[in-house]
Amino acid sequence: MINIIKVNNEQQFNETGAGIIASLLQSKPRAILGLATGSTPVGVYGKLIELYLEGVVSFKQASSYNLDEYIGLPANHPESYRQFMNDKLFNHIDILLENTHVPSGNAVDPDKAAADYSELLENAGQIDLQLLGLGHNGHIGFNEPSDELQGPPHIVTLDERTRQANARFFKSIDEVPTHAITMGIGSILHAKQILLMAKGADKAEIVAQALKGPITTQCPASFLQTHPNVVVLLDQAAGRLV
Ligand code: F6R
Repeated sequence: MINIIKVNNEQQFNETGAGIIASLLQSKPRAILGLATGSTPVGVYGKLIELYLEGVVSFKQASSYNLDEYIGLPANHPESYRQFMNDKLFNHIDILLENTHVPSGNAVDPDKAAADYSELLENAGQIDLQLLGLGHNGHIGFNEPSDELQGPPHIVTLDERTRQANARFFKSIDEVPTHAITMGIGSILHAKQILLMAKGADKAEIVAQALKGPITTQCPASFLQTHPNVVVLLDQAAGRLV
């Protein structure tokens, strides 16, 4: 079931997203969070930091598993997703760093790193709340449109469009990694609840395709239609067609 929430501005977007995560942590302090990087959740993470500083929420007993990580960047590279999570959230709240998990993008053997992440997720049990952004091509995590999708964590070749979209964070497109480790569609759909977030007019069409279009591997986010508990948080621009 998909429950769409449309908000009017950035502040409401961040408050609503953070509110959903905070309520979960209040009712279940040991919650397992599935986290995303990218621009969309940054303000939500900022609001969560505020809620933590105000004493409204604690992450002390929580644990987290990130969706994906670039292959080939050292963990302390400013654009690695591990670094992003430390900078934007983990370093500012009381989560124990050892309870935060991001695939290992700089392992000597990336296939083993993906298999290890798969095992880690299996041992963790069910993720309580999985956060997702949405790629312009319909990707979730780095599950790119393709003739077939994979269930467990795996290595992907990033779409040219994805590399171009993410080049804004690097000095040039040549520096954007070509491969990543991502949770698979199966890992994502296994979560108890999913929070998909999208902002901006440039996401309106893909939001409509994902939520109302046919379920197809050419739009990986369309598989969210098969999940029993999805909340979709949109601003008015991204929600224009749904
Ligand atoms: C990030 C991720 C990606 C992004 C998507 C949207 O961990 O897995 O799927 O969520 O590319 O990115 P933004 O939010 O930058 O538009």
